[in-house]
Amino acid sequence: MSETDHEVLERNRAAWNAGRYDAWVAALGPPEAEARVLAADPAFKVRRLLPHMGDVTGKRVCNVQGSHARVAVALALLGAQATVIDFAEENRRYGLELAAAARVSIDYRLSDAMKAGALGLAPFDFVVMELGILHYHQDVTAFFRVIVGLLAPGGRMILNEFHPANMKLRRQATADYFNSEPLVGDVPNPTGGPEKLGQCTLRLWTLGEVVTAAIDAGLVVEKLIELPDWDDPKFPGMFTLVATKPV
Ligand SMILES: C[S@@+](CC[C@H](N)C(=O)[O-])C[C@H]1O[C@@H](n2cnc3c(N)ncnc32)[C@H](O)[C@@H]1O
Repeated sequence: MSETDHEVLERNRAAWNAGRYDAWVAALGPPEAEARVLAADPAFKVRRLLPHMGDVTGKRVCNVQGSHARVAVALALLGAQATVIDFAEENRRYGLELAAAARVSIDYRLSDAMKAGALGLAPFDFVVMELGILHYHQDVTAFFRVIVGLLAPGGRMILNEFHPANMKLRRQATADYFNSEPLVGDVPNPTGGPEKLGQCTLRLWTLGEVVTAAIDAGLVVEKLIELPDWDDPKFPGMFTLVATKPV
């Protein structure tokens, strides 16, 4: 029997809360240590996003599924008003301690991303997202509609994501680019160790499905940049989709 949307949400939320604070401390160090790294060079952490943002001073930026808040804290260090939306309490704990240690303020909202419209947030100049976002959603067009709802008219979405060819053909056992069935996969362990922190239900989208969904949701696509794999530069590793909400 297939899971309901609610069952998928709760399974994924439980996986993202399982030992997550300790995992961040093990992988990144305590928040004070990571804050020093970010403060030394905040632009480095957001190097794939910043070229599409210009000067972020005073800009309202929302990092959807922003996890440990390293992106949000880096943007705040660069002068942005940064908000995170994420559903995992253990991520929020690390993220708020990180912001405090970096002596910046961020607004961290604990919420299902699909319910972000109900948070009553003022419109954003930018919605930014990085690496491991779309496969948590069973309806990617509905997800992009939520993003459109968060943006101010003329506001820009910058999505830097794992390339579907890499996710579908290399990382998944099925190696079937067009497989549209939900999969069960391990939630990432940032230490790289063998310990399993939990399992999520994932839906891997093709590149065509992603771009078409963004257009169907009302975004105007400006750029689709494909980037090489870290280990094998002949193979795609990531893509960056830049799109705006019409004025
Ligand atoms: C792989 S991480 C994204 C990477 C992260 N932005 C970074 O900078 O490293 C995926 C994040 O999505 C969050 N997440 C997954 N499904 C979600 C949902 N439905 N609503 C809110 N957050 C969700 C998880 O808690 C996790 O922090």
